[in-house]
Amino acid sequence: MEKIRNFVIISHIDHGKSTLADRFLEITNTVSKEKIKEQYLDMMDLEKERGITIKLQPCRMEFNIPNFNCQNSDKFILSNQNYILNLIDTPGHVDFNYEVSRSLAAVEGAILLVDAVKGIQAQTLANLELAKKQKLVIVPAVNKIDMRNARVQEAKQEISHILNIPCKDVFEISAKKGINIKELLEAVVNKVPAPCQISETEIQKTEKQNQEFFKALIFDSKYDTYKGVVAYVRVFQGAIKTGEKIYLINEKIQGEVKEVGYFKPEMSSVSELKQGEIGYISTGIKEPGKVRIGETITKIKIKNIGTSELADIKALPGYEEPKPVVFVSIYPEDSNNFELLKQSLLKLKLNDPALCFEQERKEMFGQGFRCGFLGSLHLEIITERLFREFGLNLVIFSPSVVYKSKDKNNKEIFVFTPSDWENALQKEFQEPWVKLEVMTQSDYLGNVMEIIKDIDGKYIGTEYFTQKKLLLSYEVPLREIVMQFYDRLMGKTQGYASINYKMLGYRKSDLVKLDVLIAGKKQDAFSRIVSKRKAEKEARILAKKIKDVLPVQQFSVPIQVKVGGDIIARETVKSRRKDVTAPLYGGDYTRKRKLLEKQKKGKKKLKQTANIKIPTKVFLEVFKV
Ligand code: GTP
Repeated sequence: MEKIRNFVIISHIDHGKSTLADRFLEITNTVSKEKIKEQYLDMMDLEKERGITIKLQPCRMEFNIPNFNCQNSDKFILSNQNYILNLIDTPGHVDFNYEVSRSLAAVEGAILLVDAVKGIQAQTLANLELAKKQKLVIVPAVNKIDMRNARVQEAKQEISHILNIPCKDVFEISAKKGINIKELLEAVVNKVPAPCQISETEIQKTEKQNQEFFKALIFDSKYDTYKGVVAYVRVFQGAIKTGEKIYLINEKIQGEVKEVGYFKPEMSSVSELKQGEIGYISTGIKEPGKVRIGETITKIKIKNIGTSELADIKALPGYEEPKPVVFVSIYPEDSNNFELLKQSLLKLKLNDPALCFEQERKEMFGQGFRCGFLGSLHLEIITERLFREFGLNLVIFSPSVVYKSKDKNNKEIFVFTPSDWENALQKEFQEPWVKLEVMTQSDYLGNVMEIIKDIDGKYIGTEYFTQKKLLLSYEVPLREIVMQFYDRLMGKTQGYASINYKMLGYRKSDLVKLDVLIAGKKQDAFSRIVSKRKAEKEARILAKKIKDVLPVQQFSVPIQVKVGGDIIARETVKSRRKDVTAPLYGGDYTRKRKLLEKQKKGKKKLKQTANIKIPTKVFLEVFKV
């Protein structure tokens, strides 16, 4: 176990985690240079296409240190040692922060990676805070030193400020060009401690008596049609083999191990998974909902321990449940696909525990789900995965944060989606507020303040990291930042700003509901709750957006946006024009007119009877407004 090092790479989005992982895979010969593609550990097609990491990805590497030579080393390490390095690559976007926090519980150390051009960003701080809470050893590095506009010294000073260490202790690397990568990996071996064990005091009497005592933490999982739920685990105590019986302490269910193995990074079976290691256990359990992330797996050794004693075994701490901030109703376009949607969501939840959903029913749409997400990117990714991985076409309602109101009995109720609005009889609403932190360079201060003013932000204060880098704090309604705020901020600051937020609580709010009529028919999916002050502006933008993305029909389609009975915005999608008079030669005017009138009548009839089909893409485009 002394030769194992478990660590993660944490950073703000795009600072180079996956590229650094590529170099680690290369120098440890885990994946050959020829085989390696850029961002190898981003294994989903969606991750590759978008260039972002969505899922955590573990990988086991073997590292030989022939001649130890490490910057910042204060310990002596013998030469020619073989180490097992278990790396977990994590996402950097705020919406996937739960992936980071789960990874941290499985390791002892973290490389804190900072882009030399951008310097520390809001998620650098947020992830560092999580790593410190977990008492991980931090190995800091400035990446992208090869870039022309790199500000290596400034970035080092910023890191030195937040970690309270001398600048010389911060590595200077280029993940792309492979500069100082081996040295960084050697520092990981040198500084990160070998896997910790569960302390004696944490082990209970029953467990001490049982020679086969085994505990593993599930930090991720996925579904395999043949092997059932495959749990990604960190083994904290004991060892496990194929064929052994397992017991999930919290869920109180049993299974039989179909296979155990390592991530290389593809799954590769082994005979045994041992203490301190990171790997997978195929549980044989076929119900996806039964194997929760954060669960503890133990072993049942029938001779020494009975089922009643199993209840005495203490689970590992597990994880705090993630709290979704944005809710959306999702329905299958074809109501016969409800069961497929349900099974697909259950399977996605297996490796995305931040996704939550509850069954609901709407008259026009049948059965569907009210789903909770950690932000708009999370929502976008899940709906895209439902389409790609399960072939589901969906009706997606407008996303909303959770409002509070009162019902007719003066009882407090929650308004999760605009369709719950009618239940709130006493229209006195409260909405969630957050403390928003914006990290920016002083050059963009004016632009940041302009955006914050537009979202009714209340200024709290400023913290200077260096003369040029500041952290601004505000109080803002959550509604204003969950959807497109981040993209707007990026646009106004050329990508030189970043955000993080924490819940403050509920405050009184003046809200109205916008309803959308397309060709005279109310389209519930487009309804949304907005601030009363901005209702007209939002209605105009919404109508314009629907006009821009709705496919052209054979007749012109009016789009109206209402508050109560009043239409406050209107647009028209012009019809597709077909020249019905084209086959006519010569100047027979009466025949021409007849044909045009026939066409007009036909369009009118079509307009009255047609049901406009709205593709999933349109919902996704419109909710981004
Ligand atoms: P997320 O997981 O989505 O947060 O991104 P990431 O932190 O894994 O970053 P990724 O490795 O995807 O790199 C982001 C971009 O930076 C890519 O275009 C990389 O090619 C580029 N990049 C990474 N490291 C370096 C480097 O050392 N030098 C240069 N010039 N570019 C780099």
